[in-house]
Amino acid sequence: MSKPKKLFIKTYGCQMNVYDSERMAEALGGQGYVETQCADDADMILLNTCHIREKAAEKVYSELGRFKGLKAEKPDLKIGVAGCVAQAEGEEIMRRQPLVDLVVGPQSYHRLPEMEAKTRQGGKALNTDFPEEDKFEQLKKRPKAKRGPTAFLTVQEGCDKFCAFCVVPYTRGAEVSRPVDRILSEARDLVERGVREITLLGQNVNAYHGAGPAGDMTLAQLIWQLDKIDGLERIRFTTSHPNDMNDDLIEAHGTCDKLMPYLHLPVQSGSDRILKRMNRSHTAESYLRLIERIRAARPDILMSGDFIVGFPEESEADFQATLDLVEEVKYGYAYSFKYSTRPGTPAAERPQVDPAEADDRLQRLQALITRDQRSVQDSMVGREVKVLFEKPGRLPGQMGGKSDYLHAVHVDDADVEIGDLRRVRIVDSAANSLRGVLA
Ligand code: SAH
Ligand code: SF4
Ligand code: F3S
Repeated sequence: MSKPKKLFIKTYGCQMNVYDSERMAEALGGQGYVETQCADDADMILLNTCHIREKAAEKVYSELGRFKGLKAEKPDLKIGVAGCVAQAEGEEIMRRQPLVDLVVGPQSYHRLPEMEAKTRQGGKALNTDFPEEDKFEQLKKRPKAKRGPTAFLTVQEGCDKFCAFCVVPYTRGAEVSRPVDRILSEARDLVERGVREITLLGQNVNAYHGAGPAGDMTLAQLIWQLDKIDGLERIRFTTSHPNDMNDDLIEAHGTCDKLMPYLHLPVQSGSDRILKRMNRSHTAESYLRLIERIRAARPDILMSGDFIVGFPEESEADFQATLDLVEEVKYGYAYSFKYSTRPGTPAAERPQVDPAEADDRLQRLQALITRDQRSVQDSMVGREVKVLFEKPGRLPGQMGGKSDYLHAVHVDDADVEIGDLRRVRIVDSAANSLRGVLA
């Protein structure tokens, strides 16, 4: 057998891309590739790009430019661009950067083996179609390697919501749900390979409506199917839209033991005027009432969210409404972003907020969020939580994992194996993690 070729994948953006990178590595594994952590000794470099940040495409071009020297030294090196910039830019990438051999959009990763073969024959390969066939089925897996205790599983892709700031509906296309049986067989396969926690992924995961044996299933119904898999201990899902938070999903948070008490539910702003301009189709009030219902079902649930500050036309009063909402929810985690324009989206054309003002608001929001995050984390001290151990800690003898609430927890001198799920008493809270002892 010939020496394995080396594949270097650099992943940007969301969990969807992290998942896709794994699938790409598997697909190219069939072509004799093994992954490397170092671009310098790679036979193929793939950039799995994200289009969410400002000037995302420009950054990809400058990143590609840096491979010039490497490609001059190694003429056989193949360079590919995948992900959302590939989808958005398409052929333009090869026009602007001739050293690129391959451009592949997120819907076409199952075509990678034949595309790679084409580049080996000296050709260029481009595929950014939105095909009809199921790319997940096509990405046939190789003989099963053992895996770590946690894994992502994509159940839904794309989005039909068209928030005024967001490129996802353009880069990932319309909302598509995978059929239930395929998700279940992938989940069983993951569990056989050592996975104990699965995070269901989708840009709009709670809009899930995949085909089941007797009609479409909701996300909650899918979760109840997964609940039956022996050996699967924990289920999470991300990212949800407030409008798709159905009663059965809320109820599952109260009744399904495997469903973890953590919910990422982005709101983006606390101002109804801005929410309307964002095309979010919920209000601050409806969002807060929703959280009340979720907390009624599962009182200890840890809430997480996303915010955009400095959205076009956001006034100080609008921003204040965001701060008020944060005060009211008390997030355990929250991610805040300064608005940045995405060409082609409706908000890009509107009057922009002064950047210095937006920076100032971002800092104020982050200060508030950091305070809440810390106090929620600190409130774990003295409690007993369950921890799924994932890897050795920084210090000798230390082991680290995540609690049900997704806090990082480490235990000194822990007599545990990776993949163990154990009760831990929390004794201390540091900046980004908790310390505990086995209970
Ligand atoms: N589908 C998910 C997340 C989409 S992108 C959802 O609806 O919540 C992840 C986050 O990036 C968003 O929640 C938003 O807060 C942020 N984001 C998206 N577009 C942005 C933009 N143009 N500027 C700043 N932040 C943005
Ligand atoms: Fe983007 Fe999420 Fe809005 Fe869809 S719901 S358009 S993915 S922010
Ligand atoms: Fe980015 Fe595409 Fe994800 S734009 S956030 S990588 S869906």
